[in-house]
Amino acid sequence: MSAYPRLFSPCSLGPLTLKNRITMAPLFLGYGKPTGEVSPLLLDHYREMAASGAALNEVENAAIDPGGLGSPFTLRLDQDRFLPGLKDLASTIKGQGALAALQINHAGRFAWSSEPLAPSAVATTGKVTPRALTTEEIRELIRKFAAAALRAQAAGFDLVELHGGTGYLLSQFLSPRTNRREDAYGGSLENRLRFPLEVIRAVREALGPEFPVGYRFLADEWLPDGLQLAEAREVARRLAETGLVYLSVMGGTYESFFLPERKEQERHQGYMSDLAAAVKSAVSLPVITAGRIQEPGFAEALLVAGKADLIGLARVLLADPLWPIKAGEGRAAEIVSCEPVCSLCFQRVMKGQPVICSQWPKEKRERFGEG
Ligand SMILES: Cc1cc2nc3c(=O)[nH]c(=O)nc-3n(C[C@H](O)[C@H](O)[C@H](O)COP(=O)(O)O)c2cc1C
Repeated sequence: MSAYPRLFSPCSLGPLTLKNRITMAPLFLGYGKPTGEVSPLLLDHYREMAASGAALNEVENAAIDPGGLGSPFTLRLDQDRFLPGLKDLASTIKGQGALAALQINHAGRFAWSSEPLAPSAVATTGKVTPRALTTEEIRELIRKFAAAALRAQAAGFDLVELHGGTGYLLSQFLSPRTNRREDAYGGSLENRLRFPLEVIRAVREALGPEFPVGYRFLADEWLPDGLQLAEAREVARRLAETGLVYLSVMGGTYESFFLPERKEQERHQGYMSDLAAAVKSAVSLPVITAGRIQEPGFAEALLVAGKADLIGLARVLLADPLWPIKAGEGRAAEIVSCEPVCSLCFQRVMKGQPVICSQWPKEKRERFGEG
């Protein structure tokens, strides 16, 4: 019998059955080609993540439109020419016995673009002022989310995840800070919900009622004038009515991640689990929690306490791709930790360099660091 019976128990997400409750949370590492295609390095990385024993691999955000790229190395799925690489990616993950999800995204005001688009022309803290989307452009983006989801399905992914986290476009519509529109897409909560709800509806219609769709959910922007937990719980309730199969809860955006109090909070194990628990108590669908979940015993305790249904590991799995196997074999003491004060991965992403982890052996750092 496992030392962590809940962690290693199966879990249903719509039609899918996960063999355990460990998921790889989406982690953009800059391994894609600068043309938005899947690279051999990216395949190597996901092969290793899928072989980790985590039941579900959520592949990092892929852009639904070239104007919505998070970086020059972001994967793209806005055209059929990206399909062969995405097919290789899905089959690489599934070949290791894991389920494969692809996260689809538009970065909105944080896009790597000469003219970022957003609900409103609200300058970022990096002093970039996006252009407000027209209603026709909003409708076009909804169509592009649906077309991108169809490509993910055609590529063989088991599940599509909509990226409603990190302060990207879907969350920009929900936020009173970034959505100052005075039309049907802004103002009241009902209006701010309109874009995410229309995207979910269009995606689900395109994929068919049986195909599972999950949602990365921003439960608190951690900014005084941003979306806050009380309202986010109401948002979660409304999203949950649309037939999503899970909410994967996170907090913060690029405008709050680097605040001193958040950097301090981020060093603690399970630092977003209270957000997940608050969302879970508002909805009846499965909730994923991520955030420095370093010890299997801690993960088990979160599940047993009912704070979440599934555990998400991002940097934690990168630092030790054997985390699930070691946990399953009762070798938790051998797990190599993600260093709380390191942030090398984030620094490399910000510099446009392929990520390496300070915990990796030298040979692996050299192989991945060269891109
Ligand atoms: C370098 C980096 C890239 C990330 N990329 C994504 C992403 O593409 N999509 C997403 O939803 N979250 C992304 N995240 C957030 C992670 O999924 C996760 O919520 C967070 O890192 C906390 O989990 P961890 O402590 O296990 O890393 C990223 C985080 C980091 C540090």
